Amino acid sequence: MPLRVAVLASGRGSNLEALHRAAQNKQLPIVIVAVLSDKADSGALRYAKEHGIPGFAFQPKDFDSREAFDLALMQAASSVQPNLMVCAGYMRIISAAGIAAAPCPMINIHPSLLPKYPGLNTHARALANGDSEHGASVHLVNTILDGGRVLGQVKVPVMPNDTPASLAERVLNQEHTLLIETVRCITENPRLLQSND
Ligand code: GAR
Repeated sequence: MPLRVAVLASGRGSNLEALHRAAQNKQLPIVIVAVLSDKADSGALRYAKEHGIPGFAFQPKDFDSREAFDLALMQAASSVQPNLMVCAGYMRIISAAGIAAAPCPMINIHPSLLPKYPGLNTHARALANGDSEHGASVHLVNTILDGGRVLGQVKVPVMPNDTPASLAERVLNQEHTLLIETVRCITENPRLLQSND
C-alpha cells in the first residue's frame, strides 16, 4: 500500500513537484492525496490543480485566531486520511493546537543545517556569518520552530561570490533529492516517525 502523503505548501511548490514526480515515476511508493495551503494563488496549489491532486486553500484572514485556522487546516487534512504530512515550503507557524490536531506525523524541509538557523532568511544569515557550507534539513515537526528531530540533511558549499539568491538556488536543487530520499527512508522504516521529543 503506498503511503498517503498530504503536502502543506505556501509558495512555488518545487518540492511538491519533486515528490509528485518521484511518485508518478514509481521511484517512491507514495500517493499525494492533497495539497493544503495558506495562499490561494500559490504555485503549489496551481500544480495540484493541473495534476488532479485535491487542493485546499485557507485564508488566515478568514479566521479569528491561528488556532482556529490550524484546526480547519487539520480537519481538511484528516478528510483525506494521510499517513504522513509534508511541509514543503509551508511558511506559516503551526500552533501547538494545530500540531496536536494533526491526523498523522508531520515532517518539514528547512533550508539550513539545523540546529543552525531556524526561522527565516537562512541563506543570508549563513553568508553573513561567513559559513563555508550551508544546506537543508528534513525534520519531524514538533512545537519548537524547526526544532524536531532531524531525519536527513544535505550540505552545499558556499561559493565566494554567493548571494542569498544564488545560494538558495543551489540549496533548493539539493532539497528535492533530500526530500525524496528522506520520504523513501520513512516508507522503508516508518519507525523513523516515532518519538518526536
Ligand atoms: C524551500 O527552500 C524550503 O526549504 C523553504 O521554502 C522553500 C520552498 O520552495 N522552506 C522554509 O523556509 C520553511 N521554513 P518550494 O515552494 O519551491 O518547494
